[in-house]
Amino acid sequence: MTSTPITKKNHPMKIYRIQLGVFFLLAALLNFSCKPNSTDSELATTGSFILQESELPDYENDLDHQGLLNALGDRYDESIRTGEHIYNNVCFNCHGNSDQLGSIPTAFKFWEDTFNLGKDPYSIYQVLTRGYGSMPPQVHLTPVEKYDIINYLREC
Ligand code: HEC
Repeated sequence: MTSTPITKKNHPMKIYRIQLGVFFLLAALLNFSCKPNSTDSELATTGSFILQESELPDYENDLDHQGLLNALGDRYDESIRTGEHIYNNVCFNCHGNSDQLGSIPTAFKFWEDTFNLGKDPYSIYQVLTRGYGSMPPQVHLTPVEKYDIINYLREC
């Protein structure tokens, strides 16, 4: 009886691995072929907030924004320092500054771009809280921290 000896080349495990490889390739292609749709929807949401007001924590819809802004005056220097610290640690990575560009080329360039939404504190607060276009919402920041960053950005 002649049977093909199992060599390294035709070893069943090898065929299995090739099948597995083909499967992953197809899966990757399928996933890839779905990408244009998601890019479309990303494009469609560019220029809009990511989180709806109803998706925000309750305290966000109940804030006294004017009160928070007025309170900055009492701790002005500390607020600027905190804002700078957070900008460098959180925002800089994507946004960069005029000397060193950030990692995301489309991220807003504070030193030369024109705000889509507005440069007033409340508009920037909305960007940070709800996310905007391709910028994710900064859910880890407290309202005071957000106004500290805004204070810093408006000073520099
Ligand atoms: C993960 C990357 C990333 C991080 C982190 C990030 N941003 Fe952004 N930001 C972007 C991108 C990308 C855009 C452009 C959004 C668009 O127009 O689609 C943007 C846009 C903005 C805008 C412009 C909105 C307008 O009116 O045009 C502001 C203001 C802003 N970011 C502030 C901040 C601040 C402050 C921080 C730090 C707390 C921060 N971002 C953190 C990526 C980021």
